[in-house]
Amino acid sequence: MTHADAMAAPSSLDHCPLMPNYGAPSILLVEGSGTEVWDNTGKRYLDFVGGLAVQSLGHANPEVAEAITVQANKLVQVSNLWATEHAAPVAMTIDRHLGGGGQVFFCNSGAEANEFAFKLARKWAGHGRFGVVTTFGSFHGRTLAALAACGQPDKHEPFAPMPEGFSHVARDDADALAVALTDSTAAIHLEPVQGEGGVWPSSLAFMAAARALADERDLLFMVDEVQTGLCRTGEWFAYQHYDVQPDVVCLAKALGNGFPIAAVWAKREVAACLEAGDHGSTFGGNPLATAAARKVLEIMERDDIVGRARSLGNQLAGALAELPHAESVRGMGGMLAVELDGPIAKAVATRAATSGLLVNPITPTALRLTPPLTTSADEVEEAMALLGDVLDTTEVPA
Ligand SMILES: Cc1ncc(COP(=O)(O)O)c(C=O)c1O
Repeated sequence: MTHADAMAAPSSLDHCPLMPNYGAPSILLVEGSGTEVWDNTGKRYLDFVGGLAVQSLGHANPEVAEAITVQANKLVQVSNLWATEHAAPVAMTIDRHLGGGGQVFFCNSGAEANEFAFKLARKWAGHGRFGVVTTFGSFHGRTLAALAACGQPDKHEPFAPMPEGFSHVARDDADALAVALTDSTAAIHLEPVQGEGGVWPSSLAFMAAARALADERDLLFMVDEVQTGLCRTGEWFAYQHYDVQPDVVCLAKALGNGFPIAAVWAKREVAACLEAGDHGSTFGGNPLATAAARKVLEIMERDDIVGRARSLGNQLAGALAELPHAESVRGMGGMLAVELDGPIAKAVATRAATSGLLVNPITPTALRLTPPLTTSADEVEEAMALLGDVLDTTEVPA
């Protein structure tokens, strides 16, 4: 039985062939174009989740689809024993947007990018220095080390014990960060804006303190830009809102506009600690994924997607603040959350979907919005009218 069949016949859900780790999705999406998606009944939705900040250039972007199709007919994968056509140009573009002077490693997902960053920090720091300090509320992925790095103890508990070497401090608490750094620490690893934790931008002072402490104690200052990177926040990378330069940057989500590809950038002097054989990935940086990424980066530069993220964010933040039940709006560019006046986020997201709008209840009281950065002003208006109607008829439980 297929997932679709199982969903069409709820009494048969026991026979669904997919594991239950994602719960039981109630909508089966089959097609997309820009900010619109359609389900298997032909119902249209405006997608303000955007594949969780992945679909920055919109669903089924025709130029990215064409680049993938051409490359799929040419060369898909040959292992990393040989060089291929697009990896170096993609690495050069990433390096240019990160200030230059670095090198890039390609892999396939955000968690994998973070895993490699942790290995890189250990190799760079030398034996005896292996610790990584992150913030409470942070999210870095689901593999074991990435999970240990997440500052969300409830996610650790079912899989304990966690790999050693990870500790956490309160976001924006520079004093706690200073205390948490020990002789065995190799790196500080921060999301400039916590995404899965609820869309919480770091303060300017905290990011500056992290950089300064890393310099003082001879540690790496690493940023997890898996969600925030590549135009999402209205800069190419979110750390660029802060007056700091990281040593290592992890990126993923938007790089392939949905085609799996991730990357780790490091300053050349950091990457220099690696020797052949230290790390690898069978699929990492394959010709198909890098063809997609090359086209994505070309479009982002050509169409000023950074500028579009800013104007989209301004319009969206203004509209969200006016909604019924809205208490505050936070975030940057096209990565926003609206805090509501009660624990209604889940019910609102479910009712919004019924009305044809997809939004993400990131906490019991907040909705996260990460639409494609190409979303038009008319689509924002339509989405906010839908959400306004839903909120207008939702009551906060007593
Ligand atoms: C900041 C951050 N890091 C890492 C990850 C994990 O990425 P992936 O699901 O591709 O492993 C995510 C995913 O949401 C993320 O937001």
